[in-house]
Amino acid sequence: MSQHTTIDIDQQLTDLLSTLGREEWKRRYWEQGEFLVQDQVIPSPIIDSLMKDVETVRPKINRNFIPGHKKGGSVSFYLVQQYAPSILALYYHQGWIDFLSGIAGVPLLLCPESDPHACALYFYTEAGDHIGYHYDTSYYKGDRFTVLVGLRDRSTSKLMCRLHTKEPGRPQEELALATDPGTYVFFNGDKLYHAVTPLGANEERIVLTLQYVTNPAMGLAQRWFSNMKDAVGYFGWSALLGKPSA
Ligand SMILES: [Fe+2]
Repeated sequence: MSQHTTIDIDQQLTDLLSTLGREEWKRRYWEQGEFLVQDQVIPSPIIDSLMKDVETVRPKINRNFIPGHKKGGSVSFYLVQQYAPSILALYYHQGWIDFLSGIAGVPLLLCPESDPHACALYFYTEAGDHIGYHYDTSYYKGDRFTVLVGLRDRSTSKLMCRLHTKEPGRPQEELALATDPGTYVFFNGDKLYHAVTPLGANEERIVLTLQYVTNPAMGLAQRWFSNMKDAVGYFGWSALLGKPSA
């Protein structure tokens, strides 16, 4: 991929930011318990660039299966770093990080390069691919925030989002969302209880995830648990063994 492409996507992302209403995003984010979904945020020329990267890394998908919890494919941050410059440009874009920090009300930082989830792709490509309800729990000393960007959704799967689960006295709310190309989701990982319903036959759903944290330090026990979860549930043992030292 040429340098030109990366510079171009940087500029496109900067231009896009100037069209977004941060105060409105912020109001909705807090109203919904630190969760926000916006349709048609990322325009198709940018989605096309991201999808070129997706096709480059598609042969390197790691398939995983945890009975009763999840089934699907993943491509880790290590592979994104090597083969996906447009995706990386989105993850690193300082204007977007500042924009999200303004919404969350706290400065967001990149995950350490040793975290395979930092910027990763999730592929739902086989019938029954899904993930059960979970939080994106932070194993860091700070909070962990998730961005999801819909890249392709030719499926009947839904992103299920249960809001206000940790707000006593407030009625919970459940949303069933399609993640069409360009859909942008942003939430505090410890606040949003979420799942993806099983993929039908001959369907495909591809989602990009970006993770940001408020403090990237991690305790030793948390590091061990996080590594085991990643190896079994997401990226395989080779990703763990190939991890650059933190
Ligand atoms: Fe999640």
